[in-house]
Amino acid sequence: MSKFILQPSAVTGNPAKYTADTNLVHADEFLNDVIDVAPPIHVSTTFRYPRDPSKLVAAKDLPLEDAEDHVYSRLSSPGTARLEALLSSHLNGYALVYSSGLAAFHAALVHLNPRQLSGSLFYHGCHGVADIHSRLTGMKQIPLDCPVEDLQPGDVVHLETPLNPLGTAFDIKYYADRAHNRGAILIVDSTFAPPPLQDPFEFGADIVMHSASKYIGGHSDMLGGVLVTRDLKTRWKLWEDRLYLGGVMGNLEAWLGTRSARTLGLRVLRQSENATKLAGWLSEELAKEGVVKDVVEVVKHASLQKEEWVGKQMKGGFGPVFAIEMKSELLAKTLPSHLELFAHATSLGGVESLIEWRAMSDAHCSTKLLRVSVGIENWEDLKKDFLQAFEKLAKRETVVLNGTD
Ligand SMILES: Cc1ncc(COP(=O)(O)O)c(C=O)c1O
Repeated sequence: MSKFILQPSAVTGNPAKYTADTNLVHADEFLNDVIDVAPPIHVSTTFRYPRDPSKLVAAKDLPLEDAEDHVYSRLSSPGTARLEALLSSHLNGYALVYSSGLAAFHAALVHLNPRQLSGSLFYHGCHGVADIHSRLTGMKQIPLDCPVEDLQPGDVVHLETPLNPLGTAFDIKYYADRAHNRGAILIVDSTFAPPPLQDPFEFGADIVMHSASKYIGGHSDMLGGVLVTRDLKTRWKLWEDRLYLGGVMGNLEAWLGTRSARTLGLRVLRQSENATKLAGWLSEELAKEGVVKDVVEVVKHASLQKEEWVGKQMKGGFGPVFAIEMKSELLAKTLPSHLELFAHATSLGGVESLIEWRAMSDAHCSTKLLRVSVGIENWEDLKKDFLQAFEKLAKRETVVLNGTD
């Protein structure tokens, strides 16, 4: 076993010595080889072989995975190893980091090479990756809720929950059971709700993926992706594939990721609480006459779903993204310009709140839809900001746009 791999307690079955928040600060300490308290930034792509000639072993006699030390940063590096140790502890499996969320999804599909991919509802970028695989391998794409008999052994079911851009949840256990009864494999894209919000392994996921560009990075300043598996053999195969696909995370991003992951639990809980309060407030306002009802059609968020499994699955809290459908396209285009605290931008997961007229980046989305990524600000301030913007919209003090309301 490589000395760089953390054995997650969820895999070994041994109880973790400390709780998740403590592990986010300390789980990578066994890899620290300097006296610095803060992890250093390692930028080297290449690492010295041993000076003692008797310790040199030819590649044909030593499988790459048995290497005693870092060799070349496409295989491993001090920074990515530390981040992988932290994430292995927090995400409850063997974590490997990639250059982006899409690179991680691509790596999962290359590894599994399914004849069919079931899962119509997921992030449009992942659809782009799936289309490339269909072009290269003939992989057939079938709906998430296809007749269960259509699933064949070795097929992949790809479930994104909560769903981008709505923030609504899907029942992981239901889709895990469906997949497993037919010999298929379940990938869960859990980007919108990392632990402590939900752990898809608890409900039967085989592989969990994250865009680390979102909550793991948490500061809108790094791109990254993660695949997590419970099975060590799969971890090694994915690692070997990554070595040749080349989609490894960069050294600087790994350092940013490690720095950010320390506060992942704190940030995500605050963001989840803020989003749940805002979605709840909006939904209450929609039930009565007033400025919110004048301009908003509907609010979507897992916290507003009534099914019993939602609370059980998201026992740590609901995701920090929700969606607002406005009464018209013009209102949707105009709301971001009236907000002071929400930047009008794509992406999500950072400490700062964002809002996006989603049709700007997603060709298949309603032109009345706004996606809100809630940050760590005080929720009452965010509510105040929404309220003043709705008041302006209700008075039709709109930014002059070409088009009619
Ligand atoms: C749910 C989900 N999965 C995957 C991705 C892709 O991640 P990245 O942008 O890091 O490639 C995104 C990006 O928005 C996403 O929202």
